[in-house]
Amino acid sequence: MASGEEKRQLVRYLFLKLDPLWRRLSVEKQIDQKVELADTIRGFQAKCLLRSYSTMGTRGDCDLMLWQAAEELETLQALETAIFSTRMGAYLTTPYSYLAMTKRSIYDFPDDAEHDERITVRPQDSKYLFLYPFVKTRAWYKLPHAQRQEMMGEHVRVGREYPDIRINTAYSFGLDDQEFMVGFEGDDPGDFLDLVMELRESDASAYTLQDTPIFSCIQMSLWDVLDSLGGASVSELARAAERDSQGFVAVAALDELPPGASKRVYNGADAIALFNVDGTYHAVSDRCSHGRASLSEGSVDGDGCTLNCPWHGGKFDIRTGEPVDGPVRVGIRKYRVKVEEGRILVG
Ligand code: FES
Repeated sequence: MASGEEKRQLVRYLFLKLDPLWRRLSVEKQIDQKVELADTIRGFQAKCLLRSYSTMGTRGDCDLMLWQAAEELETLQALETAIFSTRMGAYLTTPYSYLAMTKRSIYDFPDDAEHDERITVRPQDSKYLFLYPFVKTRAWYKLPHAQRQEMMGEHVRVGREYPDIRINTAYSFGLDDQEFMVGFEGDDPGDFLDLVMELRESDASAYTLQDTPIFSCIQMSLWDVLDSLGGASVSELARAAERDSQGFVAVAALDELPPGASKRVYNGADAIALFNVDGTYHAVSDRCSHGRASLSEGSVDGDGCTLNCPWHGGKFDIRTGEPVDGPVRVGIRKYRVKVEEGRILVG
C-alpha cells in the first residue's frame, strides 16, 4: 500500500453487449430479468463505487458500461460473476474490459489547485464520460523528466481552458495491456471534442502510440441504463416501488451518516449531497451552480447553516439552497428529508 491514509483503488471499466435474442422474450420475462440484474448490481453498491452508463446510440459494439472502483480485486471479480449468474447474464457478452489502478502522478502541477492528486476515484457525475485506453511510445520514457514535465504542463494549461471537463487518469500497465485509462467527464460533448483536438497539436501528442477505441458514455441510473437496452421498461415501476406515499425515497442508512458527515447519494438521475449537521439532516443538489464541484465534498460552517463549496469559495444556505456569498449567483435544489426506521429518505 502506498504511503498516506488513503488506500489505492482498482478501477474497472466493464462494457457489456446484449444479445438481440433477449428482446424476443416475453414482456414478463424481460421485466423479471431486468429487475434481477439491477438488484444484483445494486447489491454491490455498498462494496464498491459503481456508476452506470449507456453506450446505446454512441457505439455499435457495446451497449452499457459499469465504472467500478474497489480496494480489492476480488470485489470486482465477484461483481462480474454475479452479473453473469443472472438469467439476463446468459444474454450478455463482454466486448471490452479495462483494468487499472489509482496512483499519484509523477509530474508536479503546483499552479493547478484543482489538479487531482487523490488516489480514490471521485466521479464528478457529469452527464457524459469520454473514455479511452492510452499508450505512449517508448521514446517518451527516454526523454529527461524535466522535458516530460514541461510537456505535461502544456497539457494542463490547455485543459484549464475547458473548466467544465474533468480528467480522471488511472494506471494500467502491469495489470492490463494499455498504459493508462483516460476518462474525461463533462456535460457537453462539444467541449470534449474541442479539447482533444487542441491536445493533438501539443508536443506530447507526438509520443502517443495508441488512444483508441474511444467510448462516449452517457451516465444514467441503472434502471435507465437497462431501459436504454430496449425491451420492457422497468425504470418507472422501480422508482414508484421505492417511493412512499409522500414521494420520499430511502437513499442511505442512518449509520452511514454520523454527525458532521456528508455523503453523495442518488435518486434516479439526481446526485444529492446529504449532510448530518449535529443531528439535523439536510439534502441539496450535489452539483454546485457555479462550476462542477461536488458539494458533498464541501464543509458546513459552525453556524450549521452555511455550506461552503470545495472549489472557489461559493457559499449556500444549506437550509434553503439559496446562494449566500462568493461567485455563486444561482441557488441549488433543496430536497425534503425525513428519517424512518433507521433510514434517511429524501423527496
Ligand atoms: S464550483 Fe465554483 S464555487 Fe462551487
